[in-house]
Amino acid sequence: MHYSRNGPTGSSGPRYLASTAVLLVEVIKLLASLTLAAHDMRRTHPTAPLFEIAGKLHRSVFAADSWKLVVPAALYTFQNSLIYVAISNLDAITFQVSYQLKILTTVLFSILLLGRKISSRQWVALVLLTSGVALVQIAGPVASSDAGAGGAWNWDWDWKERLTSLLSTGTSSGFKGLMAVLAASLTSGLTCVFFEKLVKDSLASVSLWTRNVQLSFFSLFPALFIGVLWQDGAAISRDGFFAGYNSIVWLTIALQALGGLVVAVCIAYADNVAKNFAASFSIVVSYAASAVIFRTPLMLHSTGGAAIVLLAIYLFNSRPTPRTALLPTSKEK
Ligand code: C5P
Repeated sequence: MHYSRNGPTGSSGPRYLASTAVLLVEVIKLLASLTLAAHDMRRTHPTAPLFEIAGKLHRSVFAADSWKLVVPAALYTFQNSLIYVAISNLDAITFQVSYQLKILTTVLFSILLLGRKISSRQWVALVLLTSGVALVQIAGPVASSDAGAGGAWNWDWDWKERLTSLLSTGTSSGFKGLMAVLAASLTSGLTCVFFEKLVKDSLASVSLWTRNVQLSFFSLFPALFIGVLWQDGAAISRDGFFAGYNSIVWLTIALQALGGLVVAVCIAYADNVAKNFAASFSIVVSYAASAVIFRTPLMLHSTGGAAIVLLAIYLFNSRPTPRTALLPTSKEK
């Protein structure tokens, strides 16, 4: 996404409008969810004719409680726009590292909205996970500080230099990006947990894909009216909807849509905390894979970070052996 926004070194020409990409992602997710919902319906009613399936689908999508999806739809659209603001104003690594804060905000909202219990051992695991992922991320290819416009790639990430440049840019782009990523982390936690509650409270009667159709349907309105028309209407009527589009932009859009659908499955059949663990684990896997495939040099802090992530996963999922389990049961006696 960062590459699609900032382009290869020395690239020129207009940047595509983020609002158009956010809208297209929603359209793709809507069509995909609709297809999957119809497929589900077909499976449960194998003999029903097509028009009856369409009628059932229409009734389930516009059922009385569908309006509830307005809340996550608005919040996700807001979150996705914040991410674009953040990634356009920060380098990819600073963004990734600060966005890990969502691991903690997700747990916080899981406690508040779902009544989830987190043991002190699990809290330790979560703090380890957040810092471990941040450490691994530092290894990635970093656009150097002037890379807003597409600078050279380098493999170093100097905390001091990064922090100084963030603070010295003051009110300009660095600070704006940082505020956006903090707001996105908070919104991510709240929205994902809200969606989880909604889906799980009714999974027996309303399928995940129907919920997703509702979510994408309501997301279209803010994406279209606020993003495309209100925010970027003038630019679009001047340069066109697809100005600045290329294959990288389309790939970014496809990945965003696919990612969203996968997130939905994770949330419905596991939970948000597990989703974040999986995402962190995938970062470790990509780190290891790029070392093997691209011969990316291994770095001490990143390898340490990867080990911390693995330790955190183990710690979070293992239960302390209860004292009673160590004693023989009455039968064994
Ligand atoms: O970064 P985070 O894990 O919060 O991102 C979640 C992403 O998943 C968002 O981009 C959101 O739009 C997407 N999503 C989705 N469909 C769902 C749930 C989340 O597209 N049902």
